[in-house]
Amino acid sequence: VKAPVSDELSALAATFNEMLDRLENSFESQKSFVSNIAHELRTPLSAVISELEWAAARKRTDEEYSESVKKALNDAAKLSKTITALLNLAKAGYDTSGISFKSTRADEILMDAITDVVKSNAQYKVLPEIEVENENHLSIQGNEYLLKTAFFNLMENACKYSPDNTCKVTISFKNENLQISFADKGSGIPEEDLNKIFEPFYRVQNTPVHGTGIGLSLTKKIIELHKGNISVTSAINSGTTFTISLPSKLN
Ligand SMILES: Nc1ncnc2c1ncn2[C@@H]1O[C@H](COP(=O)(O)OP(=O)(O)O)[C@@H](O)[C@H]1O
Ligand SMILES: [Mg+2]
Repeated sequence: VKAPVSDELSALAATFNEMLDRLENSFESQKSFVSNIAHELRTPLSAVISELEWAAARKRTDEEYSESVKKALNDAAKLSKTITALLNLAKAGYDTSGISFKSTRADEILMDAITDVVKSNAQYKVLPEIEVENENHLSIQGNEYLLKTAFFNLMENACKYSPDNTCKVTISFKNENLQISFADKGSGIPEEDLNKIFEPFYRVQNTPVHGTGIGLSLTKKIIELHKGNISVTSAINSGTTFTISLPSKLN
């Protein structure tokens, strides 16, 4: 366990830099956004580096190596999650022409996303309810991968931030728009945070569960890309509902 570790890490750092450049270009460049990304990536990466440097500095016991590898793995996993979320965010930031839209069924994408949410954590439960009478109204123009990502993020949040780990999802059809609401009976979001949670990396103070703060900004980007909109209502200690509305046809 020595030297090559830092070579590989500097290669990794170079890759990050490239990715940051691309992200910066694919977005209306916001200084705070880019410096936040740098911070989010550097924190776990620094932890990995110092952990491995400690292990490589001299001979350690088997227990120490094992402990060290565990800690490094844990931080690397956080890093990996953040990078995946960032890449998705960058993809959604490209101009619409680079993203393929096709006629697709919202309920099917939702079911796919539910399968993923339930698989991601054994405690998570999702209760879907389809209140659309005319099947044709479930068809939308969209990008399946991105929409699935958006639905996943909202359901994951609902399950993650509520003690019963349950999300109730309702699809309905109102004013020529498909409406999907994601409701939980969780801790709620303070009113002063409601307009900030859609900013990249914003997390409400003292949010107990680990996260990247990227999910909602990505979700909003995706919904806007589909010419829809997203809104939220919340009451402390009684719950939160996110509602997205998607036009049945893209104009
Ligand atoms: N359903 C919810 N109930 C309570 N708080 C929520 C909910 N959804 C989002 N939040 C708050 O908004 C923040 C941003 O959410 P998100 O962008 O998905 O990031 P992450 O979940 O990785 O922290 C969360 O950290 C949390 O504080
Ligand atoms: Mg989230």
